[in-house]
Amino acid sequence: MDKIIIEGGKKLNGLVDISGFKNAALPIISACLLAGERCVIENLPRIKDIFHISKIMSAIGSEIEFSEKGIMVIDTSKVEKLVAPYDLSRKIRASYYLLGAGLSRFKEVEVAYPGGCDIGTRPIDQHIKGFEALGAKVEINHGVIKCKADRLIGTKIYLDVVSVGATINIMMAAVCAEGRTTIENAAKEPHIVDVANFLNSMGANVKGAGTDVIRIDGVEKLHGCTYSVIPDQIEAGTYMVAAAAAGGDVIVNNVIPKHLESIIAKLRETSAEVIEYDDFVRVISDGKLKGVNIKTLPYPGFATDLQQPMVAALSMAEGMSIITESVYEARFKYIDELKRMGANVKVDGRVAIVEGIERLSGAKVRATDLRAGAALVVAGLIAKGKTEIDNAFHIDRGYENIEQKLSNLGAKIYRTDR
Ligand code: UD1
Repeated sequence: MDKIIIEGGKKLNGLVDISGFKNAALPIISACLLAGERCVIENLPRIKDIFHISKIMSAIGSEIEFSEKGIMVIDTSKVEKLVAPYDLSRKIRASYYLLGAGLSRFKEVEVAYPGGCDIGTRPIDQHIKGFEALGAKVEINHGVIKCKADRLIGTKIYLDVVSVGATINIMMAAVCAEGRTTIENAAKEPHIVDVANFLNSMGANVKGAGTDVIRIDGVEKLHGCTYSVIPDQIEAGTYMVAAAAAGGDVIVNNVIPKHLESIIAKLRETSAEVIEYDDFVRVISDGKLKGVNIKTLPYPGFATDLQQPMVAALSMAEGMSIITESVYEARFKYIDELKRMGANVKVDGRVAIVEGIERLSGAKVRATDLRAGAALVVAGLIAKGKTEIDNAFHIDRGYENIEQKLSNLGAKIYRTDR
């Protein structure tokens, strides 16, 4: 099992290139099924979750080539039906995107109930409600979700919770439905817009993505295309938080600054300097942050995925920070690991109160999920002494070459399997 080792206390300086957005790439790869032809997807991150979804796509009969440069050529013309292998599909959350894509192309699909990070119950009732509204019959038996429809017919769907996954899944299921589908109370995250742009590049007619009402006029058929995925706002945010906390002068390159507004505003409140340019941001910090209050919210609010790295940074800020997690019910489990490093954090339900301390101390800790792993990396960078992060595979699910990228910025970080 890989471990990441960090000798803390080094300032970060230089430039880091941000990879393509995992959370856009996963549905886009799944949506290639809709073309039934060859698609070329560029700017994909070479991370575990992408290898995993590609494995599922290959297992159902897609032909895939994935270059070192992050370009995937994917031909789904030979896929005849979609029964996703159980053990592969239950392991990642994003396998649920095969439901929307499979339902649209084959009117019949089977995928295991999805896994993913352990951050509280994560129902998929809104996805199912959407599929049923379009005319599908959905059954869950022995851990497998089966959806079947004779015809998919456009309709109005109001989401009871703002869900990224449900919005994207319903969009994919509806692109070839008869007539118009309207999704109300839709999520507005940048990757919803990215997936909609990809669907439109394949010939779909999706309007309004990025607002809370999305209209999809069904088309007969989609076709292959070439598409480039947007940069990863969460990876970018993680490096920005790391730079602010460790101190230094870092250019976070290949980003869309508009997608980073909430983290930019919050870092400025902590007293870090953030300068925005066209496609990069520069973070300048002396590493002495002030405590701030944060409430996680759907986009354009503060991203729940950055809550964890941010708490690590605030554990050494001056004064108190109050963090309210309003998206997930149990996204504070990693705090026990931060406490091993000396963090003074009290958790009460969905609220964490962080009292900044002088200095964290390096310790042996364990990544409990993807962003918890990122939080421990930030903690390790600012702690005194050596931090050993076990279960590094969680981090590899979402961060491409993290040791390499941080080493290039001057951090002392390496990986070992001992
Ligand atoms: C996606 C991201 C994840 C991010 C999250 C919120 C991927 C692969 N993952 O997850 O990194 O943390 O958005 O920005 O893109 N909910 C329901 N019923 C549903 C669906 C969701 O109650 O049918 C609830 C969830 O339990 C959660 C909230 O809605 O409390 C938001 O979840 P959602 O936006 O769907 O997250 P994911 O798409 O799973």
